[in-house]
Amino acid sequence: MPVERCPTGVASVDRLLGGGLEPDGLTEIYGEGGSGKTLLCLQVATRVALSDRWVFYIDTEGVSVDRLESIAAGRIDQVLRRMLLSTPKDLAEQSTAVAKACALAREGRRPVGLIVVDSATFYYRLSLSGGAEDEGRQALGFELADLLAAALRAQVPVIFTNQVWRNQRDGTLEPLGGSFVNHAAKTILRFDRLPGNLRRVVLVKHRSIGEGAAEFRITPTGLEG
Ligand code: GTP
Ligand code: MG
Repeated sequence: MPVERCPTGVASVDRLLGGGLEPDGLTEIYGEGGSGKTLLCLQVATRVALSDRWVFYIDTEGVSVDRLESIAAGRIDQVLRRMLLSTPKDLAEQSTAVAKACALAREGRRPVGLIVVDSATFYYRLSLSGGAEDEGRQALGFELADLLAAALRAQVPVIFTNQVWRNQRDGTLEPLGGSFVNHAAKTILRFDRLPGNLRRVVLVKHRSIGEGAAEFRITPTGLEG
């Protein structure tokens, strides 16, 4: 039986994904700063919360409620009633927040519609420069495994965002964490910056849909197009 997809509400992204996020695996979004990853997360989260399902939102970037407010368009109270927001301050707090969200999703006592980790690799990146690479890699590996198990058990879509580094050999932007992060994700989207408010989304990996690309715009109320 085909799985029920969770629309993001961004037409170009939903078209590429054949309707939306799949609930039985992890979706990774990577791309350079300002490409729209956080806006997409906030938009899907708002949509899911307004449909009266819970959203577990793990935010390492300090997303302001102002940004959520402009997307929620007058319904911020309703959105916040269904959002459990964690703001971990280091790698260990992030691991705890992920474990808690996964446990609650698996427990199934409330309808959970989405788990977001934005960004999954901010503290991991810090661990690389702080000489704690093994610790960072291990923590990230456990989190992704936990998220995957929760997605499968509770049939909850999970989005995690990832930062990029520039490969000096050919100048391309690569997601952090290498193959072990990319293997954990069933679906991978890359966001590219184009001039002005224009952005491109590229479907890099999907189990049943071929590669593709589309464009959208950044607007004051979120991503459009
Ligand atoms: P990083 O988290 O830095 O990797 O970037 P991102 O890919 O998450 O980008 P994000 O979704 O935060 O930003 C997309 C665009 O939204 C940016 O190019 C800005 O034009 C705009 N933007 C960023 N911060 C704000 C903000 O605080 N308020 C508003 N209205 N727009 C913002
Ligand atoms: Mg962001």
